[in-house]
Amino acid sequence: MGTIAVLGAGKIGEALLSGLISGGKPAEELLFTERHPERAAELTERYGIASVGVAEAAKRAEVLVVAVKPQDIEPLLAELAPLVDSGSLVVSLCAGLPTTLYERKLPDAVPVVRVMPNTPMLVGEAMSAVSPGRYATAEHVRAVEDMLRSVGKVVEVPEAQQDAVTALSGSGPAYFFYLVEAMIDAGILLGLPRAVAEQLIVQSAVGAAKMLAQGSEHPVLLREAVTSPAGTTINAIRELERHGVRAALLAAIEAARDRSVELGKAHEA
Ligand SMILES: NC(=O)c1ccc[n+]([C@@H]2O[C@H](COP(=O)([O-])OP(=O)(O)OC[C@H]3O[C@@H](n4cnc5c(N)ncnc54)[C@H](OP(=O)(O)O)[C@@H]3O)[C@@H](O)[C@H]2O)c1
Repeated sequence: MGTIAVLGAGKIGEALLSGLISGGKPAEELLFTERHPERAAELTERYGIASVGVAEAAKRAEVLVVAVKPQDIEPLLAELAPLVDSGSLVVSLCAGLPTTLYERKLPDAVPVVRVMPNTPMLVGEAMSAVSPGRYATAEHVRAVEDMLRSVGKVVEVPEAQQDAVTALSGSGPAYFFYLVEAMIDAGILLGLPRAVAEQLIVQSAVGAAKMLAQGSEHPVLLREAVTSPAGTTINAIRELERHGVRAALLAAIEAARDRSVELGKAHEA
């Protein structure tokens, strides 16, 4: 896919650069833009990737990956508009921003692919969902999927589903971290040393995730297999149900979806 430039090398931008390097992409085929010189120097030292201005990124890269916060998008698109044309490919990683925003602000027929990734990209285990904009062809989508496959798994969804994806897998790792944190607290409550509680829970999470990822059994069956009659697990499940944990998750993810919709509305014409 040639040279890729990441515009805005913060948490997710760095995760993509790092994942692409680990996946075998040569550093010479990667570029990034960054506002803070110290941060730019740090990234160049860590990955051997050159930091450039937006104009040079647009000139040298076939793919421009936008990874700034949604509130920083307008000035970046204004800067980018005179530098791109229909031969460029713009990939947006920004939560809640529709492809129509890019299509409105950039010259006619610039292809845009919207992506919702997540931070496990840092360890090559991202879950990304891609949606083509109006001018993006199947070939553009394939190129973006290939790029993302080197840092995790990819699905294609209609753009209308991107707010749901944002709430589910974009923010998803945070829910698991929150759960792990709460379970470690439970270990402390039961008198275990923190380091032991952490090890027990983190490894249980890794093991459970591997079993789920194998996909041979539905999560309900996997849970039932550890839930023996009159045993310990069913006592815990009763408390989870009594405290409405399932309903809380449904409401929490719905609230995240609503916020994603709200962020997108702020950028409507
Ligand atoms: N973090 C996640 O879990 C996650 C998951 C999925 C999607 N995303 C999306 O990824 C995007 C980035 O999120 P993040 O968490 O990585 O944010 P972040 O850490 O704040 O990174 C954004 C970076 O872009 C820089 N920046 C802003 N405007 C710029 C410009 N014009 N030129 C060059 N650099 C510029 C920022 O610099 P300053 O420090 O000066 O602001 C910052 O370093 C967001 O749109 C978010 O919706 C994030």
